[in-house]
Amino acid sequence: MSKLKIGILGASRGMDFAMRILPGWEYAEIAAVCESYPPLLEKCIQFFQERGQSVFCTSSFDDLLEAGIDAVIIANYANEHAPYAIRALDRRIHVYSEVQPVQTLAEACLLCDAVERSGKVYAYGENYCYFDNTFAMRRHYEDGEIGEAVCLEGTFCNDCSPKWHLLTRGIRDHWRNYVPSSFYCTHSIGPLLFSTGLRPVRVHGLEAPRLTHMAEKGARCGSGASLSMDMSNGGMGRSLNTNGFKHPYIASYRLFGENGTIEATPDSVTVYRYDREFRYDVKSEKASFMPFRHRPELDLGPVSNSDATGFGLFVAKILGDPVGERYSIDVYRALDMALPGLLGYRSILKDGIPFEVPDLRDPAVRDRYREDRYATDPRTPEPWRLPTSKSGTPEVDESVYEAVREDLARVDLTPGMK
Ligand SMILES: NC(=O)c1ccc[n+]([C@@H]2O[C@H](COP(=O)([O-])OP(=O)(O)OC[C@H]3O[C@@H](n4cnc5c(N)ncnc54)[C@H](O)[C@@H]3O)[C@@H](O)[C@H]2O)c1
Repeated sequence: MSKLKIGILGASRGMDFAMRILPGWEYAEIAAVCESYPPLLEKCIQFFQERGQSVFCTSSFDDLLEAGIDAVIIANYANEHAPYAIRALDRRIHVYSEVQPVQTLAEACLLCDAVERSGKVYAYGENYCYFDNTFAMRRHYEDGEIGEAVCLEGTFCNDCSPKWHLLTRGIRDHWRNYVPSSFYCTHSIGPLLFSTGLRPVRVHGLEAPRLTHMAEKGARCGSGASLSMDMSNGGMGRSLNTNGFKHPYIASYRLFGENGTIEATPDSVTVYRYDREFRYDVKSEKASFMPFRHRPELDLGPVSNSDATGFGLFVAKILGDPVGERYSIDVYRALDMALPGLLGYRSILKDGIPFEVPDLRDPAVRDRYREDRYATDPRTPEPWRLPTSKSGTPEVDESVYEAVREDLARVDLTPGMK
């Protein structure tokens, strides 16, 4: 069987797949890369030339779509994924989308339509669902070890401020400088939904203020968001995501059930159960259970392994493998994970009142949201443009971005995630 030909849109994070995930892969190979930032495109060309790999490199997405690819990894700006995913699906190209799936409810409707009319595979690359321990959390839950979940809790804390110059390149309107504080919520919510099969039906949001060290780098949004969710089974969910709190990295999850609790972190998964005398039985492990893992002999580290698994499941689904069908994250699940971030922000701007989280599986529900274009993106026309934080859209002097660009000029740019 010939290998699937994979294209990449966006060569910072996207090149992680070319450099770490796909080399030696049995069923797929990188065929083309599209990157619009000239210095990074040059580095990609050099990277492939040095390895004797024939990979088509371009700055044009149209040319990428023409390059004979079977599937594309969408790793451009996080709030611009949907339009590119839709263009690929309409060319009958399978899509593996980086986080987040959409910027607006209107886009979410169009994305569902495009997946349905294409008949192609859309998989959401929410790699935090595919850490060994979060995957094991799902297995323990499906095995009924804690009964029905009544409370779900996820925290994602990743202080990005030290590398803001690498991440934003001093571009005033880089998405990281203006997306809502709650936008990047699928690392905290995703594993909870992936494990339990539940979906949020209502969301309330709260925002932490823009911290000074983020403002000094040009961020115009709040530095963290908390979302409270009513879940489809009557239980509650809670998500905390932040890119600016001064705390070491956290990715932690808890499912509180009728009979016990499952807790997952990058280091371990722990099941707490109590017996009839209310004595706790604690079972903790570093999970190794993976129903599918590409090249398990390689220790790629938790994040790259979860990328290998997520992407492997995408390929498995394309090839008709039932494991891929079962564990790959489809467009509806992706939106269950992401919409609380969009609607939670609307709640933040309205002092925490609840917003319904629609189930866009139903085309009739979609019809209610087709015109919902609310976003903080400065390109959003009125009346849809939202302030970038609960206290408004701050003015930031251009000298702030100049200073970030000066920081960037001092480093040697490399493809792949910083
Ligand atoms: N899952 C994870 O663990 C994880 C980690 C990091 C980043 N990400 C995601 O990866 C994506 C990329 O993030 P990032 O921080 O690497 O970079 P980024 O968001 O700054 O930009 C992505 C790259 O795409 C390029 N690009 C943007 N629009 C383009 C276009 N139309 N044509 C060609 N190239 C274009 C940019 O020049 C840039 O190099 C985001 O969606 C982010 O959320 C995911």
